Amino acid sequence: MYSSFDLTGKTALITGASSGIGNHFSKTFASAGANVVLAARRTDRLKETAAEIGSTGGNADWARLDVTSRASVEAAFAKSIERFGRIDIVVNNAGIASASYALDVSESDWDRVLDTNLKGAWLVAQRAGRHMAEDQKGGSVINIVSILGRRVMGGVAPYAAAKAALDHLTRVLAYEWARYAIRVNAIAPGYIITDINRDYLNSPMGQKAIRKIPQRRFGQPQDLDGAVLLLASDASSYMTGSTIVVDGGHLQSSM
Ligand code: NAI
Repeated sequence: MYSSFDLTGKTALITGASSGIGNHFSKTFASAGANVVLAARRTDRLKETAAEIGSTGGNADWARLDVTSRASVEAAFAKSIERFGRIDIVVNNAGIASASYALDVSESDWDRVLDTNLKGAWLVAQRAGRHMAEDQKGGSVINIVSILGRRVMGGVAPYAAAKAALDHLTRVLAYEWARYAIRVNAIAPGYIITDINRDYLNSPMGQKAIRKIPQRRFGQPQDLDGAVLLLASDASSYMTGSTIVVDGGHLQSSM
């Protein structure tokens, strides 16, 4: 491997690591040499993956985390720092979707999606930023946004608004935190098959969506590996405030 992609000696905390993309990233980072903290609410799943990583020679631990609670964010960071000394990489991956047209979105649905996808990512990023600034060693924060923050479709108003805001917050934090050697970047995936969308993508409507993707396929979590390893590692040391789109060309297609 080109050596600047190597994560040996670095510790990565990944939110929403109990399933899908976050769970996959924990294994990607471990195979690149990082210590990994899997953080989410379903601790049974976290323990299972941490053990799986351990059995293949990697170094992983878990922390219970609900990103909507500052106290929970605090506790997860405290546990991770105690275990590994410091955190060098944070992936803000936890997220939820909701499916209703804008006229029908309830206030509680709006709050739930914004609290998780935007405020939750903010709470985690701020805690990470304070930790990385304190010891003056810096680090890399990677926000998982979405092409839905850039293009639109029906039925996802709170989700699309939250992702667009997180995309922009990425640039604001990059600007403010460059002085602390903290890089803040984002990945905007297109359709990646996971629990969040499996039912929709397998439905007749979902299958139709393939026609809008120039590469004519949905992505798999491993399609994001190149982007996440780039942003996590020293290979991207002069990148901050960037969003890498990984979508098979979807953003380029007409509606
Ligand atoms: P997923 O549903 O498998 O994973 C989301 C994870 O976030 C789950 O582990 C869930 O338990 C966790 N989570 C939700 N609320 C949480 C909370 N309050 N505290 C801690 N963890 C919480 O879905 P997927 O696809 O792996 O999603 C990961 C990220 O990627 C999300 O931010 C999603 O919006 C984003 N994304 C996914 C795309 C896709 O096509 N799958 C496309 C674009 C973005």
